[in-house]
Amino acid sequence: MIQISPSVLSADLAKLYDECVAIDAAGADLIHLDVMDGAFVPNLTFGAPVIKGARPATKLPFDVHLMINEPIRYIADFAKAGADILTVHIEACSDLGATIDAIRAAGVRVGVSVKPNTPAEALFPWLDKIDMALVMTVEPGFGGQGLIEETLPKIAALRAEADRCGLALDIEVDGGIKAENIGHVASFGANIFVAGSSVFGKPDRAAAIATLRAAAEQ
Ligand code: DX5
Ligand code: ZN
Repeated sequence: MIQISPSVLSADLAKLYDECVAIDAAGADLIHLDVMDGAFVPNLTFGAPVIKGARPATKLPFDVHLMINEPIRYIADFAKAGADILTVHIEACSDLGATIDAIRAAGVRVGVSVKPNTPAEALFPWLDKIDMALVMTVEPGFGGQGLIEETLPKIAALRAEADRCGLALDIEVDGGIKAENIGHVASFGANIFVAGSSVFGKPDRAAAIATLRAAAEQ
């Protein structure tokens, strides 16, 4: 099933609670929250207290993308704040197995992400332990960048490996997703689509989400 996860990185963060209410009403399936530490990526955003503050705004799942070094240090905090999916970067974890176990133990769905230059095969040994693979289609750190076409075959490789192993893996893509390319990206086997600027940057967000969904389902 196709799901659209608008990224609040492109929302008005001074009104994060209201933006979550509005994007729920506009038809989002999940809400994507980008946590950046200024070390793993060259940008800073927000942490668990801000997510906790937005949590009562909606019942939609909070899809929390941790772009931070050694996220194992904060898993319990993000779980308590109301995350439903916690996605860590394979490049940011010195002990990925322990990090996955910590997320699972906190009762949260597990995602693991790869940056554009990390091969899909790096995730293969972990696929039976996770719920979602996140293929970054831009270098993480900023919204509004152009999609890197060369990342797309990694989606197909992950889908093929998941199918071979009989796993119902969610594959999410993040970065540069817009109405003009989402059908092409979906054809590689992704089923969850993060969209920042192509939703929050549009005056009619409900129409933007509906357009993305229709184009992905074709
Ligand atoms: C970038 C973030 C993305 C970002 C996507 O590092 O992980 O979630 O918000 O923004 P767009 O959709 O504008 O490329
Ligand atoms: Zn993200």
